[in-house]
Amino acid sequence: MKALKGVKILDFTHVQSGPTCTQLLAWFGADVIKVERPGVGDATRKQLVDVPGADSLYFTMLNHNKRSIELNSKNETGKEVLTRLVKECDVLVENFAPGALDRMGFSWERIQEINPRIIMASVKGFGPGKYEDCKVYENVAQCAGGSASTTGFLDGPPVVTGAQIGDSGTGLHLALGIVTALFQREKSGRGQKVLAPMQDGVINLCRVKLRDQQRLEKGPLKEYSQYGAGIPFGDATPRAGNDSGGGQPGRILKCKGWETDPNAYTYFITQAAVWEKVCDVIGEPDWKTKEGYATPPERLSKLDEIFARVEAWTMTKTKYEVMDICNPLDIPVGPILSTKEIMEDQGLRATGTIVDVDHPERGQYTTVGCPIKLSDSPVDVTRSPLLGEHTTEILQQVLGYEGEDLARVIASGAVGQVTK
Ligand SMILES: CC(C)(COP(=O)(O)OP(=O)(O)OC[C@H]1O[C@@H](n2cnc3c(N)ncnc32)[C@H](O)[C@@H]1OP(=O)(O)O)[C@@H](O)C(=O)NCCC(=O)NCCS
Repeated sequence: MKALKGVKILDFTHVQSGPTCTQLLAWFGADVIKVERPGVGDATRKQLVDVPGADSLYFTMLNHNKRSIELNSKNETGKEVLTRLVKECDVLVENFAPGALDRMGFSWERIQEINPRIIMASVKGFGPGKYEDCKVYENVAQCAGGSASTTGFLDGPPVVTGAQIGDSGTGLHLALGIVTALFQREKSGRGQKVLAPMQDGVINLCRVKLRDQQRLEKGPLKEYSQYGAGIPFGDATPRAGNDSGGGQPGRILKCKGWETDPNAYTYFITQAAVWEKVCDVIGEPDWKTKEGYATPPERLSKLDEIFARVEAWTMTKTKYEVMDICNPLDIPVGPILSTKEIMEDQGLRATGTIVDVDHPERGQYTTVGCPIKLSDSPVDVTRSPLLGEHTTEILQQVLGYEGEDLARVIASGAVGQVTK
């Protein structure tokens, strides 16, 4: 049995942030009904197309295990169908631009009137305040949430990260808000509104940078390389390159083959608890007791020299050899894995984090499966729906439209070109 079996989700999401949330809920067993504009659908279906005529990977990789109904929510019959969906579903998830649902005639007040038990969950770019009406995409959220200003190197401009912390990160936050509201509904019997602003989600993920902002007011951040290099701090948390975010110094170091392979690097942490083992591995046993090297505070001003010495050693090994040598010694290291290496990783395939899926239009493709593992709620990743693939099925099975009534809805044009 799946954890969320029996939970019906009216999935009014598009692009990335909302779809990642509802995809997770689908993997946990919810029945996710994706409502899409007739003939058009989620804009990502036709973005970054790699197989002409087929849904893009952008869409397929964010919409597994869902059903799709085409529905024009601005048409009168469409509104009738949407009202019945609101009545039937436990959760409505949406990430339209601010005000779009109200303009359709489905304000939170109206939605509660239709179904007082429903949970209405929204992603918006910003929470209430001066920016609440703005449309927001991933990188805007990274910039407004403190990620860009703290990412990159000290002597360069702010940098956005490859991890989609604004979109997929906020989708995760929203999913937690939804299941929490469902849990509360068990006791209260009432639904509620759940809001996950993208800026707030990124700020939450940048928590340690706000920690450092306050520490900075008390003095320099001694674990930052900048301190050892004698570069003065400004009044805000600086970009820290590849310094480790915690109290243990770490850097990205070259490994054998770095001259031609852009990912022949390892992360290496000179954790205090294993300093003596680090000294032995890199061939500097004297540093275990040498003045200026023996204790963590002494080493802070010598991190450039120390990591240059560690790198002289890592450059003689592949990133995997570094892992094989250091892991048994409890020295924390991590190979820099390319996307190609990750997709070919047999371990990740064995756990279902990387999976192959068949698709009628595009053939087989590889995707990221559910990253959260529940021991009693297994996940089978099934392909994303074609546009409107389940329109009739949903009208009949979920909403009970039959016979003339069904024919009336189909003839109204509210549900697109129904072919079966
Ligand atoms: C992502 C975003 C910038 C995209 O903007 P957009 O492409 O202009 O899309 P919108 O959300 O404004 O929706 C466009 C219109 O389509 C309409 N629409 C959507 N689905 C519809 C349907 N099934 N039937 C009829 N109309 C529909 C909306 O009502 C809206 O109309 P309106 O402008 O008259 O109100 C915007 O949705 C947004 O800021 N969302 C919140 C933040 C977010 O999630 N960002 C990350 C995306 S990964």
